[in-house]
Amino acid sequence: MEQLILGIETSCDETAAAIISDDGQILANQISSQISVHQRHGGVVPEIAARAHIDRIEGVIAAALAEANTDTSQLSAIAATAGPGLIGGVLVGTVVAKAMSAALSVPYYAVNHLEGHALTARLTNQVSFPYLLLLVSGGHTQILAVEAPAKYKLYGATLDDAAGEAFDKSAKALGLPMPGGPHIEMLAKTGDAAGFDLPRPMIRKPGCDLSFSGLKTAVIQAWDAAGKDAARKPDLAAALQQAVCDCLCQRSRAAMQAFQHDYQVANPDFVVAGGVAANQTIRNGLEHISAENGFSFHAPPINLCTDNAVMIAWVAAEYRHAGLAASSRDFAPLPRWPLASLTPHETTKKMDHAS
Ligand code: KG4
Ligand code: ZN
Repeated sequence: MEQLILGIETSCDETAAAIISDDGQILANQISSQISVHQRHGGVVPEIAARAHIDRIEGVIAAALAEANTDTSQLSAIAATAGPGLIGGVLVGTVVAKAMSAALSVPYYAVNHLEGHALTARLTNQVSFPYLLLLVSGGHTQILAVEAPAKYKLYGATLDDAAGEAFDKSAKALGLPMPGGPHIEMLAKTGDAAGFDLPRPMIRKPGCDLSFSGLKTAVIQAWDAAGKDAARKPDLAAALQQAVCDCLCQRSRAAMQAFQHDYQVANPDFVVAGGVAANQTIRNGLEHISAENGFSFHAPPINLCTDNAVMIAWVAAEYRHAGLAASSRDFAPLPRWPLASLTPHETTKKMDHAS
């Protein structure tokens, strides 16, 4: 019989629930965005986010069940983001998932949100292990080898701000609404990136680490020096976008070389995930670097690249296929939870499949 998995995502400002079959068919994908709630504060306020998740979670799960034309009795596993993220929100999704798992006597999966982003390309683009992943979102910027579920090797990460933060904080300084990334991209279309000279932090250093806080500061200084002249805003947006793109491309190229040194894959794959992957200039740049280095380029569709609960349910499906154990309902959510620190759960005799 078809096994249905409910996924729940509450780690930032989206309350999301999805239902997939364990072979990866998407039966429901519900996302309730809190953007309008946080917009007037100029950023996501954790306490307000947690309360909004409490208000919405039940309705979002009910909507997912209705969309999938099913009910809770048909669910064979419950998966929820257990970190990293804003802990108040993570707790809401976790408590609901544990309660449902207990009430329905089905396994519970405490999912690492980053692993959701990391494994999405296997659902959408049928990528096989191992592959190289660039994860670029508002909260994270990392380059990793994805070896298997729960098995990651970190090549590089931002030492400070995420790439999305560089967009969002710079956009805020330029008086643009949040989230800033899409507004910067829109403005950049009519701007000239050569109009401002912005730094490319880290790219002359060995390794694959990144840094974006200096770039954000440089944007703020350049904007002040330009007398906050509205006519120059598109140029500054274009210069910022190009600088972020150059940094991501240069570091990805270094990671591609390290990956091939480590794995020597005949036809290697490069996957980009996270909200910043929506940026067309950045996508084009990464596609170009991939081709130059013999990698096939993959970017999941935007709606599964940004935060969603399909990816959370899919992690549970991957664990089940790999024979990895479900989580204990004692699992304590983690506000910080690096992917490379995931230890593969010991392989079980697929006891969670028994039901
Ligand atoms: O993955 P995501 O939806 O949420 C998490 O941070 O987990 O990513 C959101 C980030 C924000 O920083 C937003 O400004 C950025 O992705 N973003 C973009 C674009 N669309 C979203 N950045 C640049 N260009 C875009 N078109
Ligand atoms: Zn995310």
